Amino acid sequence: MKIKILMVCLGNICRSPLAEGILKSKLDLDHYQIDSCGTSGYHIGNKPDPRSIDIAKKNGIDITDQRAAQFKTSDFNAYDYIYAMDRSNYQNIVALTDKSEDKNKVEQILNELHPNSNLDVPDPYFGGDQGFEDVFQMLDKACDNIVLKLKESK
Ligand code: 4NP
Repeated sequence: MKIKILMVCLGNICRSPLAEGILKSKLDLDHYQIDSCGTSGYHIGNKPDPRSIDIAKKNGIDITDQRAAQFKTSDFNAYDYIYAMDRSNYQNIVALTDKSEDKNKVEQILNELHPNSNLDVPDPYFGGDQGFEDVFQMLDKACDNIVLKLKESK
């Protein structure tokens, strides 16, 4: 059975599509399934933001086939690890369940880089291209640590 990982942000067009693409580029997809979604339904069915597509492409990652989806409560059962991009995403996800087993699957992704610090991946949607570059770099480092953790827990 594949280990299943879900990356979650608000719109599923900027941050979590990058997190999905980056982690996919680092893992053997015969053994891992990686997806992304948003807590909102604002952009369901849309491609990633062109600025996310561009920064991914610059780094050799193609995310153009992704389409935005909304987080659903059945995702708690479907996934082993659920990574929220920021504190607000985290709170919106855990508010959808009463089960500690579900809540325990959810973590803010930057805690993989800076444990217990609850740092946000800043929402780059309303900013410029530098925001996307910064988001890419922090997600790339966080995903390196996720890979290490997954390999250690095997
Ligand atoms: P994301 O960024 O959560 O990283 O995909 C956003 C994209 C769209 C909106 C907000 C954040 N929006 O309000 O439409």
